[in-house]
Amino acid sequence: MHSDASDRVYVHSHGLCESDRVGAGTRVWAFAHIMAGAIVGRDCNICDHAYVEGGVTIGDRVTIKNSVLLFDGVTIEDDVFVGPAVVFTNDLRPRTAIKRSTDELLPTVVRAGASLGAGVVVVCGLTIGPCAFVGAGAVITRDVPAHGFVVGNPGRLIGWACECGKRLGDKLICECGHAYEEAADGLVKIR
Ligand SMILES: CC(C)(COP(=O)(O)OP(=O)(O)OC[C@H]1O[C@@H](n2cnc3c(N)ncnc32)[C@H](O)[C@@H]1OP(=O)(O)O)[C@@H](O)C(=O)NCCC(=O)NCCS
Ligand SMILES: [Zn+2]
Repeated sequence: MHSDASDRVYVHSHGLCESDRVGAGTRVWAFAHIMAGAIVGRDCNICDHAYVEGGVTIGDRVTIKNSVLLFDGVTIEDDVFVGPAVVFTNDLRPRTAIKRSTDELLPTVVRAGASLGAGVVVVCGLTIGPCAFVGAGAVITRDVPAHGFVVGNPGRLIGWACECGKRLGDKLICECGHAYEEAADGLVKIR
């Protein structure tokens, strides 16, 4: 049978992949650690020093940059970019003396096509909408709508992002050709 690198999972000699649910074409780089039980899709890039806990689900074509921390209850959908040193949380009020069961942890979802800049912190129990863009260093404390453009601590919605990553002007038309209109939970693409 024909087989090439894209049919297989690549794990660097110094990477640690304990999950058997990692899709073909995904690369796991040095000192990244994927725990048993984690689900990782196809053609992902899990960069150096990333940590993926067993209760995490990652879609296809996702980039998890260096030193990202993904804890139980986090779901990352397809085509998401997670910048270096992004930290997810899952316990809203941690106490070292109180061990929470998995169902007490608050799940977080990052919808398809979203990007999180370097050093973002995501407080748990939130949804970051499809194609949202979160600027470097933001602390996300509320849900982010579809195509929402958020910066700062606490993260504030300061505008809208195109699928291509550019910030949209008031007319919601991008120079790349896409156009949008406002809907109940963010923007929808009309062109
Ligand atoms: C958000 C970003 C895309 C810039 O977007 P932009 O539309 O060009 O924004 P501008 O530079 O015009 O800034 C708009 C405002 O937001 C502020 N701003 C921009 N980036 C910000 C950030 N990360 N945090 C807080 N405020 C930010 C600017 O200071 C400016 O404020 P002002 O209107 O009061 O002057 C960019 O700053 C960023 O954070 N990119 C992520 C880079 C990254 O982490 N990549 C990871 C892989 S290497
Ligand atoms: Zn665009």
